[in-house]
Amino acid sequence: MDLRGRDFLKLLDFSTEEILGLVDLAAELKDKKKKGILHDELRGKNIALIFEKTSTRTRCSFEVAAHDLGMGSTYLNPTDSQIGKKESIADTARVLASMYDGIEYRGFEQEIVETIAKYSKVPVWNGLTNEFHPTQMLADALTIREHFGRLKGIHLVYMGDARYNTGNSLMVLCAKLGMHFTAVSNKKYFPSEELIQTCRDIAKETGAIIDFSEDAYEGTRGADVIYTDIWVSMGEPDSIWEERIKDLEPYRVTMDIMNNAGDDCVFMHCLPSFHDLNTGIGRQIKEKYGLDEMEVTDEVFESDRSIVFEEAENRMHTIKAVMYATLRK
Ligand code: CP
Ligand code: NVA
Repeated sequence: MDLRGRDFLKLLDFSTEEILGLVDLAAELKDKKKKGILHDELRGKNIALIFEKTSTRTRCSFEVAAHDLGMGSTYLNPTDSQIGKKESIADTARVLASMYDGIEYRGFEQEIVETIAKYSKVPVWNGLTNEFHPTQMLADALTIREHFGRLKGIHLVYMGDARYNTGNSLMVLCAKLGMHFTAVSNKKYFPSEELIQTCRDIAKETGAIIDFSEDAYEGTRGADVIYTDIWVSMGEPDSIWEERIKDLEPYRVTMDIMNNAGDDCVFMHCLPSFHDLNTGIGRQIKEKYGLDEMEVTDEVFESDRSIVFEEAENRMHTIKAVMYATLRK
């Protein structure tokens, strides 16, 4: 696998072999880190991290991974840079590419990160856009493989808002890796017809299955993984909460749903999650709509079927793999 100089903007740009190669590389780098073996082969390089939306996992993963690889990093927060306000995306890309060896972008439309890549002579990595969250996918693949020992044939059910970054990307991941993807939701929240068709075409080559259900019990039967995400994503207006709650409450991940799936089914979530009242937004929603938990119950989140913290740790190892593979000599 030779990904030197490549951008990492969406999984659709990568072959099955390349995706699996990145997962293998992440496993290798994780093993080195656990054993205390130094792997600072990218000494002397520097990366820029543009965050137009907030982050805990992705930002920390890029910073820790950069440091482990011997690189310096600069974090540009959602308010302090000129990007998009006083300076165009294209100009920013050219400026940053003249100083840094790689650029991460988290923000709004996929088109923005594609524009940065177009104007930048160094690798650009997508740290989340409205449409896709590809680095999350590598972490999810590594976590599923660590748990089940394989990826091909694994049945992953996504419950909730399946037409945004995480849902879209999981459908692509499953298509590329020959997995079985089911979106279980109100059909308003299924991915676009165009993306579904693209994934079904890929599935013909890989043996993947892509299907959909509006029935929470029917759709989750036999699942190996049940995955959900928050109901209102970053950048969406607060006014949408009421409609989302109404539409998506029937698709909350509960212990009944987990039991319906089967004894070996695990729970995954990209995080952050509203599973209790220990967040500001969680408390506001409780006050306004009377909910104690949203996309997943606290019982499932805290149960031994939940592998969300293993998944979160793997963000760092997989982001390190992406940077290493694209920047190495
Ligand atoms: N899962 C994820 O991307 O988390 P952050 O928003 O904290 O980066
Ligand atoms: N769908 C969520 C994912 C967060 C990691 C969002 O975009 O806010």
